[in-house]
Amino acid sequence: MARIQALPNHLSSRFYPDDYFTRINWLEVFNNKNPIELELGAGDGSFLIRYAKAHTGINLLGIERLLGRMRKIDRDTHKAGVENIRLLRIEASYFMRYLPVDNSVQAVHLYFPDPWPKKRHHKHRLVNASFRQQTMRILQPSGMVYLRTDHEDYHNQMLEVFDEEPLFVPAETPQPLMDIKTDFESEFNQKGIPTRHAAYLLQA
Ligand SMILES: C[S@@+](CC[C@H](N)C(=O)[O-])C[C@H]1O[C@@H](n2cnc3c(N)ncnc32)[C@H](O)[C@@H]1O
Repeated sequence: MARIQALPNHLSSRFYPDDYFTRINWLEVFNNKNPIELELGAGDGSFLIRYAKAHTGINLLGIERLLGRMRKIDRDTHKAGVENIRLLRIEASYFMRYLPVDNSVQAVHLYFPDPWPKKRHHKHRLVNASFRQQTMRILQPSGMVYLRTDHEDYHNQMLEVFDEEPLFVPAETPQPLMDIKTDFESEFNQKGIPTRHAAYLLQA
């Protein structure tokens, strides 16, 4: 695979925290007080960029652990002329645990996370009780978590994990949000594999 060159800093949407143990000051990252939303495992950034374009009043942070993908999102963000995206290359569960301030995030988007289909690998799945706990910590009251997967068993796990916490109330995913598909999703849907989705609102 061709190596994707890094964008020069002045064109890049990536940021680098001063350290990885201090909670992020969103105002310093985005230079405004707009609501913060996160996409974890942003892949090639297809959702992130489309969503950011459609919601210029929201600050979007894309999390991705792979360098090549991060650089691709960065280039595509620049090409699209989108200004409300910032990108952080980091492992998502570490990020959730250590970096966002309590009650500071309006929505968490998690689409097609790696399903780890073998039973002995389920422990690697991102959505588990600890993920729920961190999501609850960082969401503001009435904040939302939006989940999508093609994988039936992982979908059931997502429902079990969030249904266990009474403060998370099952909610509808608005149709305009469902209409913004990720590239993985389009590929799956074209093969006849449906999107399984869920959304939860954190009770105020
Ligand atoms: C199956 S892809 C889905 C990408 C995108 N959300 C989509 O739907 O098109 C999963 C993505 O999450 C990233 N990823 C998986 N586990 C991660 C983790 N623990 N932390 C950060 N990124 C992760 C992978 O590198 C990959 O880009």
